[in-house]
Amino acid sequence: MNILAFETSCDETAAAVVKDGREILSSVVTSQTSIHARYGGVVPEIAARSHIEVIAGLCERSLCDASVTLRDIDAVAVTVAPGLIGALLVGVNYAKALALSLKKPLIPVHHLRGHIAASYLEYKDLEPPFLAAAVSGGHTQLIAVRGYTDFEIIGTTRDDAAGEVFDKVARVLGLPYPGGVALSRLAEDGNPYAFSLPNCRVDGNGCDMSFSGVKTAAMNILNTASMRGEQISAADLAASFEHAVTEAITERVVLARNLTGLDTCVLCGGVAANKKLREKLLKSLGNQVIIPSVYLCGDNAAMIGAQGYYELREKKVARSDCNGYATFSVNQSFKCIM
Ligand code: KG4
Ligand code: ZN
Repeated sequence: MNILAFETSCDETAAAVVKDGREILSSVVTSQTSIHARYGGVVPEIAARSHIEVIAGLCERSLCDASVTLRDIDAVAVTVAPGLIGALLVGVNYAKALALSLKKPLIPVHHLRGHIAASYLEYKDLEPPFLAAAVSGGHTQLIAVRGYTDFEIIGTTRDDAAGEVFDKVARVLGLPYPGGVALSRLAEDGNPYAFSLPNCRVDGNGCDMSFSGVKTAAMNILNTASMRGEQISAADLAASFEHAVTEAITERVVLARNLTGLDTCVLCGGVAANKKLREKLLKSLGNQVIIPSVYLCGDNAAMIGAQGYYELREKKVARSDCNGYATFSVNQSFKCIM
């Protein structure tokens, strides 16, 4: 079963061909980073227009790289939520038109389910149930993956996502967009214990977390120093901030694992590329933690093709009124034919 998949939820346009949910035949990703960098963040309308310009070319390239033609495609999968609505609609409409013209099923895929499924492409024996820590620019959630299409949210950020605060603190540190990678590189030369920052705990569900406090605290340290004309080490602040965020996530993952009894934990999403977070989870969970290679952590379409395979197995085929949704919970289902 060959699935042609598309991802356009934010600032990456991606197309891929995935065989039987587990094998990448091709995966092409075009980043709009250089376009948005001058604005210091993603400009939604520019993102949508840029997707339109490149999606057809990427589709052709993904087929060519996979050495297949449209005749070899059994289904089309696309990210329909969550994300920037204008950006999502480009992928949804392109995939819808393609599926219609090929007379093949269109499979609607949730972006976070895709991030989780990225691990199936590298860990061929991995099967639910397991715990997933999905940490990206838009989400930070601990999810019990009970089955390939059965998800329960165990813990979530109450405010900002981890990737979002990495980007915001990086911005005030004067680092280029997208800031997560740059901040973590700067942190390599810093002392993670130089500044004491909030621990991201919240009342109630112990698996929930809050990142807005640590973000504000880091920004206040910088602002206060600049008002007083004092010099502080940007590397020390970056390292202390990264330490606070990665400690908080690791602590919640360990708690969620104990609460659910799910031993295997999959770390996924863009922030899963963070070296410190990878190291901490490996140290805490040993060989029971599964972390895909960095190229599979960021947004790509192969992960959408992987999850699409399992959605199709459960007959989750989109109706003709298939739409895009800016927000949508990972445990909900899209309107489907059956
Ligand atoms: O999953 P993703 O590519 O897009 C969303 O679904 O949001 O995640 C992007 C996020 C950005 O906030 C980016 O700064 C962050 O992942 N990120 C990192 C690192 N690499 C990417 N954050 C911290 N350390 C990194 N090495
Ligand atoms: Zn993502």
